[in-house]
Amino acid sequence: MHFQWYPGHMTKAKRMMQEDIKLIDVVIELVDARIPLSSKNPDIDQIAKNKSRIILLNKHDLASQQQTNAWKTWFEEKGFFVALVNSKSGAGVKHVHEVIQLACKEKIERDRKRGIINRPVRAMVVGIPNVGKSTFINSFAGRACAKTGNKPGVTKGKQWIRLNKNVELLDTPGILWPKFEDQMVGLRLAFIGSIKEEILNITELSLELIKFLQEHYKGMLATKYEIEESGDPVATLTNIAAKRGCKQKGDLPDLDKAAAILVDDFRNGRIGRVTLEFPVFEEKEKTDDVVEEVKEENK
Ligand code: G4P
Repeated sequence: MHFQWYPGHMTKAKRMMQEDIKLIDVVIELVDARIPLSSKNPDIDQIAKNKSRIILLNKHDLASQQQTNAWKTWFEEKGFFVALVNSKSGAGVKHVHEVIQLACKEKIERDRKRGIINRPVRAMVVGIPNVGKSTFINSFAGRACAKTGNKPGVTKGKQWIRLNKNVELLDTPGILWPKFEDQMVGLRLAFIGSIKEEILNITELSLELIKFLQEHYKGMLATKYEIEESGDPVATLTNIAAKRGCKQKGDLPDLDKAAAILVDDFRNGRIGRVTLEFPVFEEKEKTDDVVEEVKEENK
């Protein structure tokens, strides 16, 4: 399967973000907890250089709890402040206020020393399409949607949502774009539904998904669909088709229909909580290697 990314308008989005970022203290970056790296554009690290950084592992209700905790540690080791949120239900969203204060501690302290007290920190939400930016902003801002900033028509300015005395949020999120250098990234984005359906072959996609699940989440499909999980993805899909009564003329299994059911079930978390990529702790691995070498030498 080959993926391509379209958007010429992303250059414009990037330029706008570079402008907006000058106005803010802290960047709240949403990633999808099922694919924390594939849903993250590394260019943001350059654009948001010198800003406090928060990563929200959003949609963590759909990801493996154990893997999400591992990703939290991974990002923390890289210097990010991290929170787990389910923007849809609102779980974990309030805690983001505390994380903002922590992330901006040095800045608040600096302001205080210069006699600036109670200046709210200014935050901006960024992320790739469909990661949950609007849902998060609605949940985070709640009813505090009173907008501040310049009056429309007087000056062209930014609209800020005053959340409380400590935080102001830019009301429009910054749209990042996924990076497609690695085809695996494209595949993961397709699994979670972040690539336009028209350019996808859902049946091929479902076979890739079955392959992944059989390798990393053995038994999950068997439990969900009450089928035999065969090593061969086509056979597994055929079993799902049979179980779900997906038939075409001549009583043949309708694999396309079964594929659509499977992919939809997966995207909505009905198969189970699945993380599609796993963190690699380089430094720790190196340390472990060194420990092993020392042990060998001491033998
Ligand atoms: P965007 O602004 O970044 O483009 O994303 P948006 O908020 O529109 O959210 C995209 C989809 O993701 C929405 O589903 C939204 O409900 C869902 N979503 C956002 N955060 C979470 C979360 O933490 N957990 C889960 N499970 N879903 C989340 P939709 O199908 O487009 O709309 P709807 O059916 O929910 O109305």
